Amino acid sequence: VRLGFVGIGAIASHHLGVLGLHPDVEVSAVCDADAGRAQEVAARIGARAHTDWERLLDRERLDAVVICTPPMAHAAPAIAALQRGIPVYLEKPLARAIGDGEAIVAAWRRTGTICAVGYQWRSLDILDRARTELAGAVPGMLISRSIGPTEPGRGDARRMSADGSWFIDPSLSGGILFELGSHDIDLQVALAGRAASVHAVSASGLLALAGTSAPSGLDDAVGVIVRYAAGAIGAILVAWTDAQDPPVYSLDLMAVDVALQLDLDPGFRLRGRSHGGRVDVTAAADPRVSTISRFLDAVRTGRQDGVPCSPGDALDTLHVALAAEEAIATGQPVAVSQPAL
Ligand SMILES: NC(=O)c1ccc[n+]([C@@H]2O[C@H](COP(=O)([O-])OP(=O)(O)OC[C@H]3O[C@@H](n4cnc5c(N)ncnc54)[C@H](O)[C@@H]3O)[C@@H](O)[C@H]2O)c1
Repeated sequence: VRLGFVGIGAIASHHLGVLGLHPDVEVSAVCDADAGRAQEVAARIGARAHTDWERLLDRERLDAVVICTPPMAHAAPAIAALQRGIPVYLEKPLARAIGDGEAIVAAWRRTGTICAVGYQWRSLDILDRARTELAGAVPGMLISRSIGPTEPGRGDARRMSADGSWFIDPSLSGGILFELGSHDIDLQVALAGRAASVHAVSASGLLALAGTSAPSGLDDAVGVIVRYAAGAIGAILVAWTDAQDPPVYSLDLMAVDVALQLDLDPGFRLRGRSHGGRVDVTAAADPRVSTISRFLDAVRTGRQDGVPCSPGDALDTLHVALAAEEAIATGQPVAVSQPAL
C-alpha cells in the first residue's frame, strides 16, 4: 500500500511509527506547509517531500492518504483526495466549521471513496463488548472524564506566545472542547446515539493556563451535559492539566443492571458488573494501532463498512461539539442540529 501524508506534525509522527508494524505499507510521499519539516521527515523515512498537497495528490501514485493538518485545514485536502478516488484517513475532529464538515461528508457520499476519521477509541474491541453487555438497552447515564495534557508532541502550554501552535487559537482549534472533549463526545454518541440538546460551561486560567496570557476563549476546564434523543444523560468533564500523572481518560456507562467503567489510555480495560456477572476485559490492541490497521484493511478490501468512524459518524460528533461551544458562549441550553445530509 503506497501512502501519502498531508501534515506531518505530532500525530503524524505517531502514525508513522505505527505504520512500521505494516511491512507491506510504504509511505512514499509527505507534504507539509513547513518545507523544512517536510524535507526532514521525507529524508528520514525515504519519501518524497512536497509543500503543496495538490501536487502530492496529482503527482504521486497513492493508494491512500493520511491527512493530519489542523482542523481548519482538513476539508480542502480531504475533499480533493476523495474526488480523485484516493481513500482518506482524516484526523479528528472532522472539521472546525459545520460547512467544512458537511462538504467532506457530501464528497465522501458522492464519490463512494473510503474515508475514516481518526476518533481511534471507536476501534476498541472492548467497545463492542460494552455494546454486547448493553444488549440493545438504552444507556441511562454516561460519564466521561478527560484529565491530562493536550498532545504532548505539540507543546501547547509552552507555546502560549505569538508564535504559538494553531491549538491556542480557539477559532482555529475549538480548544480543549474539540481537541480532547470531542473524543469523549464521539465515544458517547457511539454508545448512546444521536444527541438532542446540550448544556455546557467552561473556565480558563485555573489549570494548565494558570499564570499564562491565554487568548480569550481558550479554556482549561470544560463541562458538558448532553441529553440524548433516546433518553440518556451524558456528562463530559475535561480538565487540561499536566499535574495528573498518568492522565485519566475514562467512561462510566450505566444502564438497567449494567454499571461498567471503560478505562481509556494508557490502559484500555472494561470492568464492572453486568446482569449480575462480573466483567473485566482488557483491549486486545491499542486503538491508535487498530484504527490504522482497520483503515488499511478497508483500503485493501475496498470495504467502507470496516471503518470504525466514518465521516457521517464524525459529523454527528461535530454537531454536538458545536452545540456545546454555543452553549458555553450563550450560557443557554442548545438544541443539537440533525445533520442535513
Ligand atoms: N487522534 C488523536 O488522538 C489526535 C491527537 C493529536 C492530534 N490530533 C489531530 O491531528 C491533527 C493535527 O494535529 P497535530 O497535533 O499533529 O498538529 P501539529 O501542529 O503538530 O501538526 C500539523 C502539521 O500540519 C501542517 N500544516 C498545516 N496546514 C497545512 C496545509 N494546508 N498543508 C500542509 N500541511 C499543513 C503544519 O505545518 C504542521 O506540521 C488535528 O486535527 C488534531 O486534532 C488527533
